Amino acid sequence: MYRIASIGGDGIGPEIIAEGKKVVDAAGDAFGFGIEWQDFDIGADRYLSTGEVLTEEDLKELAKFRAIYFGAIGDDRVRPGILEKGILLRLRFHFDQYINLRPIRLLRGVSTPLAGKRPEDIDFVVVRENTEDFYVGIGSRFKGKEKKIMEVEREMYKVRFGLDVESDAEEVAYQIGVTTREGSRRAISYAFDLAEKRKKKVTSVDKANVLSEVYGLWRDVFSGVASEHPGVRNEFTFVDAVTMWFVKNPEWFDVVVTPNMFGDIITDLGAMIQGGMGLAPGGNINPTGTSMFEPIHGSAPKYKGLGVANPFATIWAGAMMLDYIGEPAAGAAIVSAIERAIREGKVTRDMSGSLSTSQVGDFVTAALKK
Ligand code: IPM
Ligand code: MN
Repeated sequence: MYRIASIGGDGIGPEIIAEGKKVVDAAGDAFGFGIEWQDFDIGADRYLSTGEVLTEEDLKELAKFRAIYFGAIGDDRVRPGILEKGILLRLRFHFDQYINLRPIRLLRGVSTPLAGKRPEDIDFVVVRENTEDFYVGIGSRFKGKEKKIMEVEREMYKVRFGLDVESDAEEVAYQIGVTTREGSRRAISYAFDLAEKRKKKVTSVDKANVLSEVYGLWRDVFSGVASEHPGVRNEFTFVDAVTMWFVKNPEWFDVVVTPNMFGDIITDLGAMIQGGMGLAPGGNINPTGTSMFEPIHGSAPKYKGLGVANPFATIWAGAMMLDYIGEPAAGAAIVSAIERAIREGKVTRDMSGSLSTSQVGDFVTAALKK
């Protein structure tokens, strides 16, 4: 018996999580384990009625679970950023989920926009560092006398940008990225350990040619970790170039490790080459704490309640969750069942099918029973 927390969230979140839970339960039946779910009412509705985004009580309760199954958050009635930062990012940081694991894999039967590429060509994993970089939230925005600026800073704005920031006509915003040796090390080590079990290659994605402080440190750490893994090939790439290679030669990659923000960007590209956002799962992992599994797409408010949302990304995230809690065979069976649904055209309309969200969930559930 495993206890897992679930947060449906906003928009299509609750619908897809319902399908995911159904499938995970069926996998449990087939492989001899059970899940005791505890649902948490967190998201826009609660925020709008109580003003609470995420409470200390929520965090204390969630900390009791090894895994959280997460739908999506984001709602048109709430200013962008409040729920994203207040819930999703807060959970990632609070539980120190320092790995964001995003498989980029073209399942059999799925069409990719990359002409001529087959499932064996598109099969890599992005390990996105998940707690540092430009996500640390250090920055400010000010004009004129709103903010007391240190002499040296004022001089810097003047010399560098020709701005007199004491004047109300000028306005400045800045935000900084932070990498630490330990923060980089733990993400990069995770990537190398993963590559040891795969095709034994790790690619670092950064922009050390321009952001030479933050990514210079990242590269130093990468080289150090690489030297501890003589059996794993390694390479450095720049993020702008890697977007070309993802499209032109996805077969080159095995494990790709990257700081937080570039990881955010390149995994949307990755999602497209694996067949679209409806097929892209992710795990926010703290190997010794509370981890959280989610589709990488958002809450798609305009499709809420219509039964048209593609549940595969969420179901696949459920498979990753089972892998993580120690039921890898059940996880693999779920991915096979998804492939079977695709092969038989039991898919939602975004994949040119005609099934509803719950009909897809039912098919995958039934496929697990056989
Ligand atoms: C993602 C999302 C989030 C991110 C947003 C919603 C905060 O884009 O999970 O990729 O930037 O990490
Ligand atoms: Mn993103």
